[in-house]
Amino acid sequence: MTQQTIEILRELEWLAVECRIQPSDDGRTLIPLNETAFSIPSSSFDDAIIIDIDPLFWKNRESWQSRFTELVGDGVLDEIITTKSHEILGDLLIQRYDELNEPYLDAFIQSKMEAHPRIRLMLLDHGVKGEFRIRDLQPIAVRTDRLLWGEDLKEVDPSHLDLTTYVPTNGLRLHLDPSRVYFSSKLDFERQNTVKELSKFSAKIGRPVNVCDPFCGVGPAIAHLLQQNDLIGELLVNDLNPDCIPFLFQNLKILRNQNPNFIENDLVEPIPGVFVGCMDALQIPDRTEQCGRWDALLVNLPHQTLNLLPALLPLLRPEGPMRICGWTIIPESDVNNLSNNLSRIVDCNVEDIEVRVRKQFNATDILAAFVIRR
Ligand SMILES: C[S@@+](CC[C@H](N)C(=O)[O-])C[C@H]1O[C@@H](n2cnc3c(N)ncnc32)[C@H](O)[C@@H]1O
Repeated sequence: MTQQTIEILRELEWLAVECRIQPSDDGRTLIPLNETAFSIPSSSFDDAIIIDIDPLFWKNRESWQSRFTELVGDGVLDEIITTKSHEILGDLLIQRYDELNEPYLDAFIQSKMEAHPRIRLMLLDHGVKGEFRIRDLQPIAVRTDRLLWGEDLKEVDPSHLDLTTYVPTNGLRLHLDPSRVYFSSKLDFERQNTVKELSKFSAKIGRPVNVCDPFCGVGPAIAHLLQQNDLIGELLVNDLNPDCIPFLFQNLKILRNQNPNFIENDLVEPIPGVFVGCMDALQIPDRTEQCGRWDALLVNLPHQTLNLLPALLPLLRPEGPMRICGWTIIPESDVNNLSNNLSRIVDCNVEDIEVRVRKQFNATDILAAFVIRR
């Protein structure tokens, strides 16, 4: 719970990173917030209490910030640098590209790689590219037996610059290469929510849930569900990006001993009742054996979720209980209308729809999670 909360706060950039997380006398954990915290309402923190206490600062040598200041001088971090934070994925440290940071890149590399001794590769993120919205990542430093960057990188054996990594998350280790497949550890909290939702659903219907994840990526949502005994019955995992499939076979324990041979633009059934596809999700309903089969549908292609949802509905059981767990990016001004909109698309009551605003996506849009229950 603490770890999830920290991840959400980090994603929202509400953490006061220069301060320490500390225990309070009543057994709770105190997580330091910065002054932008709660600039947008977030239902993720309904149970949290905000208190004012004196912060505990990191000791000077421990943080990358103090080492950075040592290297470039006072004031630069606070007055010039706007993009400070980074994301850690396994043994990769990813920092968003920012033109203003260019003159200080060497100092970023030294301070962050010294502060994170388990990091093997530091990368600059130039944004997303291509139809699969994969990150354009540029290696800028590597740790072999020593730290190498700049001109020295040209001499490094390419195997050292391999971006394949294991990302530890909630007792799982997800195998992936973020330059070839989509992955965001920021969605961990959502994956936990899906587990809670479908666990309740399984208890309600009194049997494992048949789950269809047509935009599964490397399988993080399903890997979390498979941690629960007897939660999943039949399963369909599919992603149009062929690079996801070998990782999927490693990340999902039921597929681990199977041969990841698959045919592009097709669905295979390596185990009875378990389907693996590498095809356009919109074409899955053309397979008659897939229609009316699934109790739960996960729809995670947030820029297109609302447009694609109608075409995917035939996959669900036509009658009886079902769940749709979806994520969508929409203009902030459309949030209040989202439940009505979904109710029209799925032809259900608004009372059966739960909408949670997850975060501000950009200046005008937000990411919202929804669950439709029938
Ligand atoms: C936002 S990611 C979600 C991945 C995964 N569910 C997760 O939580 O990490 C969307 C995924 O949909 C895949 N995708 C994009 N268009 C698709 C399509 N038309 N049919 C199937 N998959 C598609 C992308 O390759 C990507 O892996």
